Amino acid sequence: MISEFQHWIDQNLPSQKGKTILITGGNSGIGYYSALALAKAGAHVVIAGRNPSKIDQAIKSIEAEGVDGSLKAGIVDLASLESVRQYAAQFVVDHSKLDILINNAGVMMPPEGKTEEGFESQFGVNYLSHFALTGLLFDRLQSTTGSRVVTLSSIAHRGAQIDFDNLRLEKPYDQKREYYQSKLANLLFALEFGRRIDAIEASVLSVACHPGFTKTELQRHVDPAILEKMTFMDAWQGSLPTLVAATGHNVIQGDYFGPDGPGELGGFPAIGEIDASAMDTHVANRLWDVGQDVTGVAYP
Ligand SMILES: NC(=O)c1ccc[n+]([C@@H]2O[C@H](COP(=O)([O-])OP(=O)(O)OC[C@H]3O[C@@H](n4cnc5c(N)ncnc54)[C@H](OP(=O)(O)O)[C@@H]3O)[C@@H](O)[C@H]2O)c1
Repeated sequence: MISEFQHWIDQNLPSQKGKTILITGGNSGIGYYSALALAKAGAHVVIAGRNPSKIDQAIKSIEAEGVDGSLKAGIVDLASLESVRQYAAQFVVDHSKLDILINNAGVMMPPEGKTEEGFESQFGVNYLSHFALTGLLFDRLQSTTGSRVVTLSSIAHRGAQIDFDNLRLEKPYDQKREYYQSKLANLLFALEFGRRIDAIEASVLSVACHPGFTKTELQRHVDPAILEKMTFMDAWQGSLPTLVAATGHNVIQGDYFGPDGPGELGGFPAIGEIDASAMDTHVANRLWDVGQDVTGVAYP
């Protein structure tokens, strides 16, 4: 265990004993360190992802650190809404409660591609599948006292926009623009979800976060020459905004956490700056309607 990470956990992470936590993409990068910390703090952590052997390897590696909690694998391909439906149906059979859902998995700037249902892959994997997963698990969240949904966005949300005429890649592919759009969608979702939860007076918290610049597998499609010129945090440090969003005592509806350094690129967790584009309730409502229409999952 990295000693700085252990120190941060000891100082900041409340006990998670008795909690059931589901994290997508928990086999790698930020998700891996989030799962490690939460399992160390006593939670039952379900790592959901598309690659069973990578997940098994991650679970073994976390267990080797000596955890108070427990771990379980969940197999879901977020590039398929059918897979999300099947996984959510199995999850509710296997789990009578869900304290924390962490919408963490993501892809960045892959070669042009579409999800099984024909959506641009980053919009589909990063946003639409998490919209559907959250909705399909909402009953479990609502019936679990003090539950939270944490959604990973990015500083890339700034300056992005949702192009409702290009969600199925109707226009020429722009890998960066599509990634930025998906991360704006994540933040619009987290904030709109919070407003809708409040409107029905449910007690679920919707919280967002971003990890600044963190070295992970996410950059696998980026030119190494560009990466060499950039400064990144290690993955354990990039997981800290997620851990605060998921477990902090003073967290409120609609909070957004990121690193506290210049430009929010690195540092330790603090309240982050939300771009005006993410607070546009007209766009947020339209995006929610699109999510409900195309996934067939209507909530809250
Ligand atoms: N790293 C950064 O600097 C940074 C900055 C801003 C935001 N973020 C956000 O942080 C989150 C975590 O990313 P990371 O940096 O930790 O990257 P990562 O190491 O690549 O982890 C991403 C995870 O998502 C999973 N995933 C990808 N496609 C999937 C699919 N179709 N179905 C199921 N799981 C899928 C990956 O599974 P496989 O291992 O099978 O590929 C992996 O477990 C993402 O939402 C990302 O957008 C990261």
